[in-house]
Amino acid sequence: MQTIRVDTPSAKYGVIAGSGLLETLAPRIERVVGRLPRRVFVLTSAPIWALWGDCMQQSFQDAPVVLFLEPGEKHKTLASVEKLARQMAQAGGDRGSLLIAFGGGIVGDVGGFLAAIYMRGIPCVQVPTTLLAQVDSSVGGKTGVNLPEGKNLVGSFHHPLAVFADISVLGTLPERELRAGLMESVKAGIIRDRTLVRFMEEHADEVLGRDPKALEKVIAASIRMKAGVVNQDERENGLRMILNLGHTVGHALEQATGYKTLLHGEAVGWGMVAALYLARQRGTISKAQLERLENLIHLYGPLPPLKLRLSKVVAATGGDKKNVGGVRRFVLPVGIGDAGIVEDVTAAELEAATKYLLARAGEKTAS
Ligand SMILES: NC(=O)c1ccc[n+]([C@@H]2O[C@H](COP(=O)([O-])OP(=O)(O)OC[C@H]3O[C@@H](n4cnc5c(N)ncnc54)[C@H](O)[C@@H]3O)[C@@H](O)[C@H]2O)c1
Ligand SMILES: [Zn+2]
Repeated sequence: MQTIRVDTPSAKYGVIAGSGLLETLAPRIERVVGRLPRRVFVLTSAPIWALWGDCMQQSFQDAPVVLFLEPGEKHKTLASVEKLARQMAQAGGDRGSLLIAFGGGIVGDVGGFLAAIYMRGIPCVQVPTTLLAQVDSSVGGKTGVNLPEGKNLVGSFHHPLAVFADISVLGTLPERELRAGLMESVKAGIIRDRTLVRFMEEHADEVLGRDPKALEKVIAASIRMKAGVVNQDERENGLRMILNLGHTVGHALEQATGYKTLLHGEAVGWGMVAALYLARQRGTISKAQLERLENLIHLYGPLPPLKLRLSKVVAATGGDKKNVGGVRRFVLPVGIGDAGIVEDVTAAELEAATKYLLARAGEKTAS
């Protein structure tokens, strides 16, 4: 069991990662909030509740009120938030109520946002159940929902009182979700933690085989990296941007494939391949480092093959025109375990990096 501290100007809390946290959740929350309030709400989705609901509820003396969000990104909407807020009001939710978000990143983002605005803000606790949510979305206080015009366009910063990342719940996570989430851990290693890179290289079998000790190590290291960055730059004015390694091109790939073919982590995996190529071209990583890190990405793949037109992907990055303020911002690895932000990526460089990744992703189709 490991506890990592988030300590920002607006919030201080612990992120606890380890096995068997669910069974003792209520007393653990009480240790943070004092006595549990009269109304405790759990936001989850039906498949997660069917698998883990009994285990999660067992330590509560009074059963919490369970609210359900339909699974899938298309339900991460303001309409869902309104519906859930009304259910809370009807069930007697007041300013002292507590909301526990129990699920993947979608439940966490919607639950966090609901808690941020219900009666102008109530406390929440995050209990993430996917690897991605444990290492990334539950930590750092970003919450929100999508609009038809784009992802995460409405939201707020609302930190939880605590995060409990129970590694045991990953036992039922589909393999593909596990691998995709691990791309964010690969990212964590590349930008800030060469020991994590080495560990993930040497222990891929244990990590992918869900050995609890190996998973705890990777998850705790990834959380430590994210918390460390958030502690220095809560509102993403500078350093926090390095968490976007692989995300400029990754988001473009998600958009160009209509959010249907790729899981987020898979898109980030391919996006990192493009960033590595660009870093190699600029000489911030060596050829050997490029090969090593690309191998690591594929070790935690397989990333789905892609058949996309170069111009479509480049257009989706917004890179065919200059971004606001005339800069094309990119996170580039510097060696292994460090990264920097560059703002002068040329259209030609972006095209070359995208071309490289599409060639790689095409090779995968052929093999
Ligand atoms: N707030 C942030 O800082 C931040 C950061 C990264 C991503 N996100 C958001 O996170 C979301 C993606 O999260 P995600 O990848 O966790 O997807 P998700 O929430 O859709 O979960 C993936 C799938 O796994 C299932 N599932 C969850 N836990 C399970 C378990 N233990 N066993 C079996 N099945 C389980 C879910 O029902 C779902 O079908 C996106 O909306 C993204 O925008 C937010
Ligand atoms: Zn991401």
